[in-house]
Amino acid sequence: MLIGFYDILSLMASSRITDSKKEEIRDAADIVDVVSDYVKLKKAGGGFTGLCPFHNEKSPSFHVTPRLGIFKCFGCGEGGDVFNFVMKMEGVGFVEAMRTVAERYNIELPKEEQDDEFDERTQLTEGIYHALRFAGQFYHEQLNAEDEAAEARNYLGKRGLKTKTIRKWGLGFAHDRMDHLYTSAIEQGINETYLFEAGLIKYSENSQKPYDYFRGRLMFPIFNPSGKVIGFGGRIMEGLKGPKYLNSPQTKVYNKSEVMYGIHLARNEIRKHDQSILVEGYMDVISLWQSGILNVVATSGTSVTPDQMRRLRNYSQNMLMVYDADNAGQNAMIRGLDVALQADMHVRLMHLPEGEDPDSFVQQFGADSFIEYTEKESKDFISFMIAHAEESGDWEDPMSRKNVVSRILSSIARVKDAVLRETLVDHLRRLSGVGERSLLGELSAHIQEQTRELERSRQREYRQQNRESQQTSDGNEEPPFPGDATKPQKSVQPAPSRLARTKKSPAEKEIIRLMIEHGDEMIYYVGQIITHDYFEDEGLRMFYNDIIQRYNDELPISIAEYTAQDPPFPELTGEIFIEQHSISEKGNERRTTRITRDADPFATARGALKAITRLYYTRRSDEIKRLIETSDDAQRRQLYSELMKITKDKMMLERTSADELFPSLEDLIKNEA
Ligand code: UTP
Ligand code: MN
Repeated sequence: MLIGFYDILSLMASSRITDSKKEEIRDAADIVDVVSDYVKLKKAGGGFTGLCPFHNEKSPSFHVTPRLGIFKCFGCGEGGDVFNFVMKMEGVGFVEAMRTVAERYNIELPKEEQDDEFDERTQLTEGIYHALRFAGQFYHEQLNAEDEAAEARNYLGKRGLKTKTIRKWGLGFAHDRMDHLYTSAIEQGINETYLFEAGLIKYSENSQKPYDYFRGRLMFPIFNPSGKVIGFGGRIMEGLKGPKYLNSPQTKVYNKSEVMYGIHLARNEIRKHDQSILVEGYMDVISLWQSGILNVVATSGTSVTPDQMRRLRNYSQNMLMVYDADNAGQNAMIRGLDVALQADMHVRLMHLPEGEDPDSFVQQFGADSFIEYTEKESKDFISFMIAHAEESGDWEDPMSRKNVVSRILSSIARVKDAVLRETLVDHLRRLSGVGERSLLGELSAHIQEQTRELERSRQREYRQQNRESQQTSDGNEEPPFPGDATKPQKSVQPAPSRLARTKKSPAEKEIIRLMIEHGDEMIYYVGQIITHDYFEDEGLRMFYNDIIQRYNDELPISIAEYTAQDPPFPELTGEIFIEQHSISEKGNERRTTRITRDADPFATARGALKAITRLYYTRRSDEIKRLIETSDDAQRRQLYSELMKITKDKMMLERTSADELFPSLEDLIKNEA
């Protein structure tokens, strides 16, 4: 990996961190350990392989070589040392990446330079991390130092948390004052922008005055896998009004749909036990941890999402869900189950004694009882749902039993692994006494319905985006939203549909055509070389995503298939294939070239990929040039560095033939082995 302009700048600015320090950190760091926070690695020869976290792939082309301390993806080309990995993964610069690794291995770094200097030279993300780190320390100190925090300290004591636990989890306290954090942070020279971008302050609507986001709350810092604070959950203090828990808003570093609370302390334990325990609340995680059950995580303020499951699966495919033993908790658990199954997780479920949650259970009865209870009471999800139905009486009544069986089948339908699905159906057959044929019939109905629902939601999303971009453009053919009916239509002249009107790059269409015509190998090949970002045309980008998704889901991909889909697929398919046809009819010359080109479809693909890449570079550099005009110094430096890299890559592209530029299919496959 090349070191960019910005990295050199930050290296110069951080001259206090000496080369020997860098070496010391690099030596202390275990690249396998660091990468394993994000990628499930498997031993392979002298190294490790896994699915690349930087691009979408189905089979692993990402390699880590601990002996050399490097990683490399043969699919997308990313590579480098442990610092480069953290930079890429967390979107930070070199210095911040080094700090992350150093903190993890307890290596002391020289203290940061003056904060104003820090602000000036670092990018937004680092500023946000800095503000969050400050806030975490600030809230923690408030909890311990101030008399006024006695109530909060007493509360935590009453909840059974020991001082050591409070320290380990960095718990804190936010006073019920308007701008306590804000003024203290500003005094410490922290840039207001970063406080805002970190979700720590808001602006009042009338006076535009800044005020603290969290007030009168017990603070639970939320950490990313490498242990950096990325946000907070705040529990309201008794007697105050407001939602019980308030979580940081979505920020550049806090993405609710990916975050797992407690992952920084649980990840190695999850690997060790080859199982995670998923609970609902922050307090559940902390209490279990305190009792010595360490492989525990929770979602933070959301229901279970696919991204969370994908992350958790890096550590282990097995998960035990233990939610609160009330209706809300049990319903949430069943909803989460479906998401987990869809993400290839192997799930067990457990029902605690009525009215308990993991926190109350373990505080009363201790870890041994919890483990014993788990061994006796946790169930695979089919047995769990049947037991649940037995308790409510639904299993006795034939009509409601049918509904329960159908509900279970709709969960089984989410399992992608065909063998596992069959095993589950067999299990259900034995427990329910319903015959295999009826079960399989209903199962396939569920699978079809879910596939259709997925298609529909993808198309809704596409149409939504399409509509949004149309509202800012002139022509409009689609009917407006129902709610927009009263708004006057801007366009007077009927315009042709946006899909037909937009001029699509022939290379983009060519790639889609090749993927549909040549199937799996071609789809794999193209998917290894470009991402959807490379498509300028929205419709073709969505088409590309759909093909990749179908490939991953092992669904059929053909002209006939797409012609039978809902709009806009038939229209797009027609455009891609009919035009191809008319070009070849224009003259023999054309026809001959097309035929010879397709004699080696992969060579044709490389030609088209080169054209797409060139267009992508051009678009991206235009975009960067525009951004440079409106950005501040720190951002500008980073943009220049990206611009330099693209310019270089573009020159390289022009100098190299398509066949040299991209590996052959065989090479790609070989590199994987
Ligand atoms: P609970 O209400 O079960 O809270 O919500 P808890 O963690 O058991 O807390 P205590 O024991 O009553 O103090 C479970 C989780 O749901 C999210 C939080 O992540 C919480 O930990 N939640 C709950 C919110 O995000 N907002 C809310 O208003 C309530
Ligand atoms: Mn709870």
